[in-house]
Amino acid sequence: MIQLAPQTSLLPDEVWAWGLIRALARRARAGAAVQERTGFGSDGSGRFEEVAIERAELVLDPTSEPCFQAARRLTPSVRQLFELYLPLCVGQRANQLVIGHVGQSLDGQIATQGGASRYVTGPENIVHMHRLRALFDAVVVGASTVEADDPELTTRLVPGEHPTRVVIDPSLRLSHARKLYKDGLAPTLIACERGRAAQGGPARIPLLEISTENSLLSLTELLAALTLRGLRRIFVEGGGVTISHFIQARLLDRLHVAVCPILIGRGRPGICLPGVERLDQALRPAVRRFTLGEDVLFDCRLSH
Ligand SMILES: NC(=O)c1ccc[n+]([C@@H]2O[C@H](COP(=O)([O-])OP(=O)(O)OC[C@H]3O[C@@H](n4cnc5c(N)ncnc54)[C@H](OP(=O)(O)O)[C@@H]3O)[C@@H](O)[C@H]2O)c1
Repeated sequence: MIQLAPQTSLLPDEVWAWGLIRALARRARAGAAVQERTGFGSDGSGRFEEVAIERAELVLDPTSEPCFQAARRLTPSVRQLFELYLPLCVGQRANQLVIGHVGQSLDGQIATQGGASRYVTGPENIVHMHRLRALFDAVVVGASTVEADDPELTTRLVPGEHPTRVVIDPSLRLSHARKLYKDGLAPTLIACERGRAAQGGPARIPLLEISTENSLLSLTELLAALTLRGLRRIFVEGGGVTISHFIQARLLDRLHVAVCPILIGRGRPGICLPGVERLDQALRPAVRRFTLGEDVLFDCRLSH
């Protein structure tokens, strides 16, 4: 059994780096992501501010690769934090970004057939998911994930605010006793099909009625409804069915696929898309690779 503990053992440099990344994500959440070459420094009390390039602890340039330059020598763990998360927080797309994540086995499964998925990937990738939650406005999951996992969808393993939790439950089939409907830890919304709200949902949980297209909820309309509520940075956490719908609708800017060296056999598949006839019709995104403990994380860029 993997023990997951809050990250109290961050090294001072990692605390500094994560604080800076969060500050940049807050700017993006406010619609003011860094777009140009800009220097940042801390004011001594842990707050970060723009400073002249020559005095900067970190210089960001969203148009270059990598998008940062540090005044001090970075440890490998801090370099990885910057490489992995800064591209999600700066540049044109960062103000309105949709990212998906799946943690899958070598044979492409995200859970056993019965729905057990804790934990397909290792503790480092679980912390990565909590970091993504902390950097985004909302975390979206499908009804089957809430049914199988009864998740909290909070940032309890890392410093950071909890995102708004959004459950796609078109026919309001989930029990009102699910944890996230009752714990009051973070705002929670349910997306359901039009006409369903009259049926009533869990107490104090707003229902977003969304139109149906080809018997699926329109994800374009869902994202627009979230934008109206000030939620523009969206993290689609799963499961495979939900993420596949987002990919098919071409609404994901980035996809993180964490591959864990286990073979599950027949289970619940990760990404399932309609087939193509020729390989030149396949999606071939630009990819960056990261090692997270035993797992390999593929950061795929789906939009430009
Ligand atoms: N390893 C991982 O990364 C990971 C992450 C999350 C979950 N999981 C595991 O994955 C399993 C659940 O995943 P899953 O792929 O089977 O299901 P899922 O994606 O969690 O939920 C799918 C359901 O959500 C609803 N839904 C999602 N998008 C919709 C849309 N556009 N329109 C209408 N309905 C929509 C539908 O509900 P209805 O069925 O009511 O129509 C659909 O059947 C669980 O076992 C969970 O533990 C693994």
